[in-house]
Amino acid sequence: MKKNIIITGGAGFIGSHVVRRLVNNYPEYHIINVDSLTYAGNLENLKDIEGKSNYEFLKADITDIIAMNTLFESRNIHSVIHLAAESHVDRSITNPLDFVQTNVFGTVILLNAFKAFGDVDNGRFYHVSTDEVYGALGDDGKFLETTPYSPNSPYSASKASSDHFVRAYHETYQLPIVISNCSNNYGSHQFPEKLIPLMIHNIKNNKPLPVYGKGENVRDWLWVNDHASAIDAVFHKGRNGETYNIGGNNEWRNIDLIKKLCEILDIKLNRENGTSEKLITYVNDRKGHDFRYAIDATKIESELGWSPSVNFADGFEKTIDWYLENDEWLNNVTSGNYQSYYKDMYEVR
Ligand code: NAD
Ligand code: DAU
Repeated sequence: MKKNIIITGGAGFIGSHVVRRLVNNYPEYHIINVDSLTYAGNLENLKDIEGKSNYEFLKADITDIIAMNTLFESRNIHSVIHLAAESHVDRSITNPLDFVQTNVFGTVILLNAFKAFGDVDNGRFYHVSTDEVYGALGDDGKFLETTPYSPNSPYSASKASSDHFVRAYHETYQLPIVISNCSNNYGSHQFPEKLIPLMIHNIKNNKPLPVYGKGENVRDWLWVNDHASAIDAVFHKGRNGETYNIGGNNEWRNIDLIKKLCEILDIKLNRENGTSEKLITYVNDRKGHDFRYAIDATKIESELGWSPSVNFADGFEKTIDWYLENDEWLNNVTSGNYQSYYKDMYEVR
C-alpha cells in the first residue's frame, strides 16, 4: 500500500518543485497535490509528471472545511506538506484579509482535518514557512530558530500566526508537526510579481526596472531546488515539534543583484554592456519594508546533513536561461490579470 501524502500549493513556484521531487524519488508515496489554482497556481509547472501513476492533482481550496474533511476522511492520509499560501508581500499590503483567510484560517482547517482523520501515529504535518516571521535585521546578525517572532507585514504576520497554530497543535494535542522557515527562493516557474522574474521580464521587454527605495535592502537567496531538497530532509529526518531554518548564506543588496542581472542579460541578449542598467528606475518604497534578512542554517546542516547543492553564480545562470528559453510560459502568465496588477502596483507608484 502506498502512503498517501498531501502536498498543498503544489501548483505554485516552490510547491511544484517539491511535488516533482517527491513523485520522482519516492515511488512508495502517492502524492495528492491539493491546489485551488489562484493566479499563482499553474498546472503548466507540472506538465512533465502529469501522467505518473503515483501522482494526482485535486483542485480544491484549503479554506473549504467540507472539502478538506471529506478528503482526509476518505483517503487515509499519512502526512501533509503544507505550502499553499498567499505569498506576495505587496499584495498583503493592499489586501490583508486574503492572507488571513488562506494562511491562517486555511492552515487551521488542515490541522483540524489531519487531527481528526490523518495518521497521527505514523505521519506528520509539515508547515513550510518563511524567515519573514522573525522581522528585520540591521547590518549584522542572522536569524536563529530561537529568534523571537516579530513580523512586520500582513503577509509575515499571517505566516507567523499559522506557525503558532501549528506549534500549538503539537503542544495541545501532541500532533506530530515540523516547521521550516526559509529565506528568498529563486529559480524556474516563479510568478513574475517577485523580484527576479519581474526584472528578467522587464529587461527582455525594455521596460523600466522598479527598484523600491534606494535598493539597499538585503535578501538571502536560495535556489528553489535546494529548498526542495531541504524540505525533503526536514520531512523525512526532522524531529517532531522542531523548527528548522533554511537559507543560502548568500546575501545581496537588491540594487547589486539587479545590476548583476542587467550585466548577464546584456551578454545573453547581445546588447551593448550597460544597456539594461539604464532601465533602472527608483520608485517609492514598499510600506514597512524589512531592511535585511539572513539565516543561520547551522541546525539543519549539522542535524540533518543538508546544504545547498549549487553556488549562486550557477543557480542564477540556470534560472535566467530558463526564463529566456520559456517565452511561452512567461507570456502566458503575464497576459490577462497580470496587466492590471502591474498597472495598479507600479503605474502610480
Ligand atoms: P506561490 O504564490 O508561488 O504558490 C502558492 C500556491 O498556493 C499556488 O499554487 C496557489 O494556487 C496555491 N493556493 C493559494 N491559496 C490557496 C487556497 N486557499 N487553497 C489551495 N491552494 C491555494 O508561493 P511560493 O512562493 O511557491 O511559496 C510556497 C510556500 O512557501 C508559501 O507558504 C510561502 O509562504 C513559503 N515560502 C516562500 C518563499 C519564497 O521565496 N517564495 C520563501 C520561504 C517560504
Ligand atoms: O524571505 C522569504 C520571502 O521572500 C517569502 O516568504 C515570500 O513569499 C517571498 O515573496 C519573498 O519576499 P520578499 O518580499 O523578500 O520578495 P520580493 O521578490 O517581493 O522582493 C524582494 C526584494 O526586492 C524586496 O526587498 C523588495 C524588492 N523589490 C521587489 C519587487 C517586486 C523591488 O525593489 N522592486 C520590485 O518590483
